[in-house]
Amino acid sequence: MKSTLCFGVILLLATVGFSHQAVAKAKHSAQSNNAHTSAPKAEQEAAASCQIPAGTSVWKNELGSTMTMTVNASGAVSGYYQTGVGCGVGVRQPLVGACNGYGITFSVNFVGCSSTTAWAGTISPSPTIIRTLWHLAMGTPPAWNSIVAGADCFIPSGAYPQGLAQCSLAKSTQIK
Ligand code: BTN
Repeated sequence: MKSTLCFGVILLLATVGFSHQAVAKAKHSAQSNNAHTSAPKAEQEAAASCQIPAGTSVWKNELGSTMTMTVNASGAVSGYYQTGVGCGVGVRQPLVGACNGYGITFSVNFVGCSSTTAWAGTISPSPTIIRTLWHLAMGTPPAWNSIVAGADCFIPSGAYPQGLAQCSLAKSTQIK
């Protein structure tokens, strides 16, 4: 009798524990479905699509650097970078990054130059411009001057160099 009662209590506790876990799991799934907005997951994915159309495009910046970038349907960015200044001018270095809506990041390992650079920027439409801030980290042992920071603005290579004028204009004063 005593052991039957004991078994009954254990069974009850196990059932309560299981249903508590199931509720927590359902809550977590609902939260991750609406990570930033109350929109359904499919809509969030559509809204996150890169403002640069999927495919390969070539960009130039104010330093004369050339970036050949391929964006895939998921927003993954790959390609190569040829700097116009510094170590290894004109050398094609692989580039990797990600694009999400109006935001883009990419980085380059300047092989043979002992430095790496990461850019983060925004994509302005009509005309399309990528405005970025970057950090270049030296490959040498850390020191007070191991990291250099700057800004780069990229325009489609076909619009180079005249299109660079757009980089310094505020949206309200853009030339139409
Ligand atoms: C080096 O000199 O260590 C490698 C070349 C670094 C070139 C930098 S990366 C940030 C800035 N933007 C460019 O297009 N080139 C310079």
